[in-house]
Amino acid sequence: MAVISELKAVELNVQEFIKEKAAEIAKTVGNGYAINALSGGVDSSTVTMLGHKALGERLKTYFIDNGIMRKDEPKMIVSVFQKLGVKVEVIDAQSKFFGALKGITDPEEKREAVTQTFYKDVFADLVKKSGAKYLLQGTILTDVDETVAGIKRQHNVFEQLGIDPQEAFGYKIIEPLVQLRKDGVRKIAEACGLPRSVFNRMPFPGPALAARVIGEVTPEKINIVRSATFIIEEELAGISAFQYMAILHNDKVTGIRDGKRDYGLQIEIRCWDSVDARLAKATRLPFETLENLANRMVAEVPGVVSVTYNITSKPPSTMEAI
Ligand code: XMP
Repeated sequence: MAVISELKAVELNVQEFIKEKAAEIAKTVGNGYAINALSGGVDSSTVTMLGHKALGERLKTYFIDNGIMRKDEPKMIVSVFQKLGVKVEVIDAQSKFFGALKGITDPEEKREAVTQTFYKDVFADLVKKSGAKYLLQGTILTDVDETVAGIKRQHNVFEQLGIDPQEAFGYKIIEPLVQLRKDGVRKIAEACGLPRSVFNRMPFPGPALAARVIGEVTPEKINIVRSATFIIEEELAGISAFQYMAILHNDKVTGIRDGKRDYGLQIEIRCWDSVDARLAKATRLPFETLENLANRMVAEVPGVVSVTYNITSKPPSTMEAI
């Protein structure tokens, strides 16, 4: 297993990196085709731009609508990339993902279900359909570190776990960003011409909102955490935190609604200050902001009677709940 040498954001020669990676992708793919799945996050958006620079029309970009993304995500991503001249095809895979997640409560099994559905089911089909031999993806060094350390099985790490994607899924994987961390990727993203709304966008995990539902992931629970996420993203839009999120707990608690007992849902809010996601501290949000968030959650998200704020640091916490 090759050791990956880190390229620190401060040492990065952005133009050289873009030229080098585009040339490497072009050389590897040769005259053939490659596919990539754009999630709208900064990593996959950057890979999309590098891939298009290298391959033009020979890169087929897909957005996998897995049913566990944030509100209006497919529409928004297609429109951003249309403006950049990149065609994105939306693939409806909702039933595949919910089918794979049904009945699973263990966090690592949930991650594995998402991974297998992406790579064995959805991407393998798309590779066949498009005649591609390669999948381009935005794995970064932090994803590799945490997976290898056994902390979390990040959805996009294979080789470092001794898994050969060609053998396991029938195609090869190209990872142009694997030497970088998030701060380095943002620099490349900006230089690739991506808008601020993308290069400055906060990270979002591959297992998407499934990483934020404790216990079994169902369409109903995803809808709840999606509504809570929408509120947090609206309320905290102006702040400079690294990442913020809503988590839906599995346990219910007793509350009161309309003067009656209401055994309801708990939402946990997390908001992190971090440079590269390896270490993080809870952001010192003003109490009024937290109160606003709690008021909106109980008023707008059906069934919620309790809202908490996580004040732990990473480690021992991790940023996502799953
Ligand atoms: P954790 O929860 O591990 O998160 O402290 C650190 C950063 O990584 C993101 N994250 C993921 N990103 N695939 C990804 O591409 C994944 O499986 C994954 N899991 C967590 C998380 O959102 C945070 O920014």
